[in-house]
Amino acid sequence: MSESTIDFPTIGVLGFGTMGAGIAQVFAAAGRTVIVLDTDQQRIDAGIATVAEFLDGGIARGKATEEDKAAILGRITGTTAVADFAGVDAVLESVTENAAVKQALLSEVATVVGAQTPILTNTSALSVTDLAAALPNPARVAGLHFFNPAPVMQTVEIVRALQTDETLVERLVDLVHALGDKFPVVVKDRPGFLVNSLLLPYLNDVIQELDDELATAEDIDVALELGLGYKTGPLKMLDTIGLDVHLHATQAAYEATADARYAPPPLLRQMVAAGRLGNKNGLGFRTEQPNHGSN
Ligand SMILES: NC(=O)c1ccc[n+]([C@@H]2O[C@H](COP(=O)([O-])OP(=O)(O)OC[C@H]3O[C@@H](n4cnc5c(N)ncnc54)[C@H](O)[C@@H]3O)[C@@H](O)[C@H]2O)c1
Repeated sequence: MSESTIDFPTIGVLGFGTMGAGIAQVFAAAGRTVIVLDTDQQRIDAGIATVAEFLDGGIARGKATEEDKAAILGRITGTTAVADFAGVDAVLESVTENAAVKQALLSEVATVVGAQTPILTNTSALSVTDLAAALPNPARVAGLHFFNPAPVMQTVEIVRALQTDETLVERLVDLVHALGDKFPVVVKDRPGFLVNSLLLPYLNDVIQELDDELATAEDIDVALELGLGYKTGPLKMLDTIGLDVHLHATQAAYEATADARYAPPPLLRQMVAAGRLGNKNGLGFRTEQPNHGSN
């Protein structure tokens, strides 16, 4: 397909952090022109560097070439000006997980883009329906939820808000199919959507079982990896996600539903209170590197 006939040829991404960088790379690799907005030039430079480093890793493993890297980076530009989104064919927001921040930015973006231009959100825990309700023409709003790291993880949840137009859902399914090896799953707008609504209670149960001394942390992980064929044991996974990130997500789901399955287990709260955040600072359920007092 030539660039002129692909759907959503130009995509505006809001936020050049962990997810924004990965998502920009995925869209650029699929031939889209990508404009990424963040708050200052330093963050934009950091986002570009994240994409370049990720591609360098692919080159080192023989999965990409220097030409691929140049082509992908050539399709990504950074900006700090919302006005630069005027001509985009869709907007995907992936800024900090805070409803007020997202709403303020999306309201500003809505004054710049076309009245029918799809506005998509990568939120993990907020209600897409609520975000849509605060915008003009909410029928053009949907969730497009990538997993971390976006260039690697194949599942993409397409979240249908109560207001979302069905034609947009269909276009998004086609878009995800056009992103190489990604798998689109259309889901309802509920806390955690599909994957996290199952994952959060599972991880909470495992933390409680560890606290109950059912088995050691290592044995729990190995048992689930070998017994259920899971690629990564749950406690290793929690260290990778970040215990603070998991606490924030499960707390938000608990507040939205009052469902006890999402209630943060006491040990999780204690770990976070004690500054044990997982791989990011070398202190987690499975990671215990000596802390030299430098962080
Ligand atoms: N990290 C994950 O594992 C993960 C996975 C799936 C979805 N998400 C969701 O993706 C979104 C982003 O998460 P992240 O992990 O990339 O966060 P992050 O903190 O790495 O990046 C957020 C970026 O948004 C920018 N930002 C904040 N306010 C802004 C504004 N007003 N204008 C422009 N830029 C602004 C920040 O400067 C930062 O660069 C969140 O909604 C999160 O829930 C995260």
